[in-house]
Amino acid sequence: MIVVNFKAYSESAGERGVKIAKICEKVALESKKEIIVCPQTPDLSLISKEVSIPVFSQHIDPVEPGSRTGHITLESVKRYVSGTLINHSEKRMKIADIDYIVKKCRKNGIKSIVCTNNVSVSMACSVLDPDYIAIEPPELIGGDISVTSASPEIVENAVKNIKKINPSVKVLCGAGIKTGEDVKKAIELGAEGVLLASGVVKAKDPEKVLMDLTHY
Ligand code: G3P
Repeated sequence: MIVVNFKAYSESAGERGVKIAKICEKVALESKKEIIVCPQTPDLSLISKEVSIPVFSQHIDPVEPGSRTGHITLESVKRYVSGTLINHSEKRMKIADIDYIVKKCRKNGIKSIVCTNNVSVSMACSVLDPDYIAIEPPELIGGDISVTSASPEIVENAVKNIKKINPSVKVLCGAGIKTGEDVKKAIELGAEGVLLASGVVKAKDPEKVLMDLTHY
């Protein structure tokens, strides 16, 4: 499983985001691998109509609909998405709020990917019973060295410890992932997929990168 987070890059905004999402769909269909896209929030409506692959939100606020301003409620995105990232390193949340959103996602049939920065936070979040935990050392995010080469022990220890606490949680890893070799290594370390952004979104040829990522 390959999750492509579009982040707030200008390369993935609006029509450019639609283009990347369509490339992801094409490669997913050709390779028969699961590729999930996480577009920018204002593009969720548009992109969810344009592609048949799963569309996830990058974030949901731990609030109910009502007299609030600037929040993203689950209710406002649920017609467009089948899942969401939660607690990304670039959008940190309190553990009580992560718990609230994970439970609310489950109740609404929305898959949850809780992002974590290290093994102990991963262990703590596994008790909350999300569908996925994606471990991403923050210092490697957006860089050229993959977590699987720089810190393989973090991925291995996260998988081992999460599974001990909650065997039903699937583990992803991310940060610096760019090649099929990185995906292969992630799987060898026990992960069930990867979460990445710049490797695809900022690539000159995203299709070429995605082809490599899916043919490991
Ligand atoms: O959400 C994915 C992310 O934080 C990793 O980013 O650019 O290192 O693939 P990147």
